[in-house]
Amino acid sequence: MVTFWVAAFIFVTVGIGLIYTVIRFRRKPGQGIPKQVHGSTKLEIGWTIVPIIILGALAIPTVMTEFYISEPPAGDQLTINVVAHQWWWEIEYPESGVITANELHVPVGTTINVEMTSNDVIHSFWVPKLAGKMDIFPGKTTSLWFRADEVDEYFGQCAEFCGESHVWMKFRVLAEPISEFEAWQQKQLADAAKPTTPEETQGASTFVAKGCIACHTISGVLGAAGVIGPNLTHMGGRGTIAAGTMEMNQDNLREWLSDPNEVKPGNIMANSPMSLAYTNPNFALTAEDINNLVAFLHSLK
Ligand code: CUA
Repeated sequence: MVTFWVAAFIFVTVGIGLIYTVIRFRRKPGQGIPKQVHGSTKLEIGWTIVPIIILGALAIPTVMTEFYISEPPAGDQLTINVVAHQWWWEIEYPESGVITANELHVPVGTTINVEMTSNDVIHSFWVPKLAGKMDIFPGKTTSLWFRADEVDEYFGQCAEFCGESHVWMKFRVLAEPISEFEAWQQKQLADAAKPTTPEETQGASTFVAKGCIACHTISGVLGAAGVIGPNLTHMGGRGTIAAGTMEMNQDNLREWLSDPNEVKPGNIMANSPMSLAYTNPNFALTAEDINNLVAFLHSLK
């Protein structure tokens, strides 16, 4: 408001002076060319120094306010670590040990302190309805705080161009009542659901045999401890596939597994017919493999 009123005063003063000058010194009929002058050292120095003083003075409350609003409020805080990847979000709750992806569950009304770093290039964390943007860099930690005051689903998006599928680097913040949040956390800490149908059982074996375990963790599945891709222990319980690219359902899972690069260009998920062998190993999944994997992954609520 200080900046606003100072700017408003300058705007009005300059505006009045300009209008007065235009009217008062308007060229009259029959008048010749006025006296031509060039430069005025006093004026030049004046209109250089005065703005320096005004802007210098305004910088003090501005910087103080910047520091004030970037400081999280006192009281209960929950820290969440976010690691940005091309093109998904790894989310860790250091207090409970929960690791998930692309969905930040948060208790409503609690100050959330997000500590961020990147695994590859520069990304930017942005949930327009909850907070400003914060850039995320490899080899550096940046942080931001927000508080969701209403139970709701808030849309988030990477806001720094980070490659081919930057636009598909979405996420969601799910603000829940504290009891629901606690229940969610407990569920995440549990091992993956055991397969119940023959397809699910076969899908679990395919997941191991085809090498999916090299990149993905599914807690409770022997050998599935990869950390290159998202943790899939409870992936069926998430709302979307591939960081908000598509809704979570069996049809979309099938489409995703059939050709991940068609769905999300440039990603390093395996089995893309278009993929280059050295970046994306093509695991040549058969239709049956895919059906079983879909049943298995979808059951991991
Ligand atoms: Cu990550 Cu754009």
